[in-house]
Order: sequence, then structure tokens, then C-alpha cells
Amino acid sequence: MTGTDTEAAQHRIDTSRPHPARMYDWFLGGKDNYPVDEELGRRLLDIQPEIKEFARQNRRFMRRAVRHLAGDCGVRQFLDIGSGIPTAPNLHQVAQAEAAEARVMYVDNDPIVLAHAGALLSGTPEGETRYIEGDVREPETVLERAAETIDFTRPVALSLIALMHFVPDTDHAHALVARYVGALAPGSRLILSQATGDFDPEGVAKGVATYAARGAVFVPRSHAEVVRFFDGLEPEEPGVVPLDRWRPESGEGAESAGQDPVPIYGGVARKV
Ligand SMILES: C[S@@+](CC[C@H](N)C(=O)[O-])C[C@H]1O[C@@H](n2cnc3c(N)ncnc32)[C@H](O)[C@@H]1O
Repeated sequence: MTGTDTEAAQHRIDTSRPHPARMYDWFLGGKDNYPVDEELGRRLLDIQPEIKEFARQNRRFMRRAVRHLAGDCGVRQFLDIGSGIPTAPNLHQVAQAEAAEARVMYVDNDPIVLAHAGALLSGTPEGETRYIEGDVREPETVLERAAETIDFTRPVALSLIALMHFVPDTDHAHALVARYVGALAPGSRLILSQATGDFDPEGVAKGVATYAARGAVFVPRSHAEVVRFFDGLEPEEPGVVPLDRWRPESGEGAESAGQDPVPIYGGVARKV
């Protein structure tokens, strides 16, 4: 990736309609978003005032899952698809804090992520941190390019965090995940989080309609549909749960037990 790539990416940023990476950046309090993203973000906040907290909880889930995999399980390679605009701490920082030699390949299809990828790429000298522009719906291309950094004969953590709710069933969401998992060696893990309407069907349906009115796609899924992403894998405790309940640590989510669950399921499972 060169400075010219970054500049060219900047020219490809479409500010005529909202984009998930930039809306998520707005929810997290970032500055890499446009009025069109903020406008939809504010409308969604009117429907569900806690969205910003849900986004923060999703980042905490990422940190706990990555620390667990790099720290407790010895996983040294991470393929993070739908990586988003850099938000510290980024996944490679969490993984490389546990194991400096960890190799991380980021993939996203939004040019704004490429435009900011320079910030992603400053990993440890012992490890490797790379970014490619790619679409999760094109697994053969993504896997081929990822193989430049990732050794698929060794365990990999495939991270699809807050990504699949942008991929409708008409794009064969479950078959796509199965294709990626099929490319992984035994001992690999799938980390996945995905929004659900299980706890507030009406509010989430309003959100989906609000997205659709702006030409954007948002696909909440039920618990059973999210569990199906992990088909054939051995679930790690506590299974697929609202992600604030996935191994909460004191001071960062444990206190939410007993409150309403975060309407995003998260889980980690192992390929045997
Ligand atoms: C909500 S953000 C999640 C970012 C990060 N994974 C996290 O959880 O903090 C979703 C990301 O998925 C990306 N995305 C959406 N559709 C995609 C696709 N078809 N292929 C690759 N990335 C996609 C968006 O550009 C955005 O950066």
C-alpha cells in the first residue's frame, strides 16, 4: 500500500449515502464520518438511544475474545474481515500486546478504511500487520490475498465482528462463513458478533426500515441463525450469548448482568 493508494481511496469515498464503517465511527465518537452518516446515526439513536453503548460493548467483546485467543489459546494469526476505521486499541494492538509475533491481516471493502489504514499498520516489528481492500462476499479473492500474510496450514482466528448484519441471506451469508471456515486449519477459531432483533423486534424493525429508506442494508438475525454461523465448530464457553455476557471482566460489562442484554450476539468456536 502506497501514499498514492491512500490518496486514490480518498477520492473513491462516496458521501452521497451512509456507510457502515463511517456510521460506526460516528457512534464511537470518531471524526472520520460525513453528515450523511451522522444524519442516519441520529435517526437510529431516536429509535434506540443506547446504540453508542452497544458499539462500545462490541469493541470490548473484540478485546476480550482476542486477548483470550492470543493469550490463553496461543493463536498467532488473525484474519479480521470488516475491520472498520482504526479505533484504538485496534485488534492487532490487543493481539500483539499478548504475543508480539502475532500476524494480523485486516480486510474491509470501504475505501475510507483504506484511506486510514496507515494508522492500522504500525504493529510490532516481530509481528506483521497488513491491510487489504476486499469484500467478504468474494472469499476466493480474499483468501488468496490473505495467504500473502497468513499461513493457512496453521491455526488462524477468523474475526467477523459486527460484519454479517451487513450481508443479507441473498448473498448467502451462512455459506460464505462456511467457505472461510473451510479454509482454516484445525485449532483455528471463529469470532463472530451479529445484531439481533430478538429482544426488541419492533424497535429493530424500525431501524431496518430507516436504513432501507437510505439505500442501506441491515439484517438482524435470531439466536438460531447466529448459532448456525458456527455450524461444525466446537463452541467455547459460554456459547453464543449477548456479547456483554461473553466472559465479562470486572469493570467492563460484568456490571450489566441483570440489565437488558446488548442486542448483539457474540461467540467464539474452535475448529477441531
Ligand atoms: C460495524 S463495522 C465493524 C468494525 C469492527 N469489526 C468492529 O467490530 O469494531 C462493520 C465493517 O464492515 C465493513 N463491511 C461491510 N460490508 C462489507 C463487505 N461486504 N466486505 C467487507 N467489509 C464489509 C464496513 O465497511 C465496516 O467497516
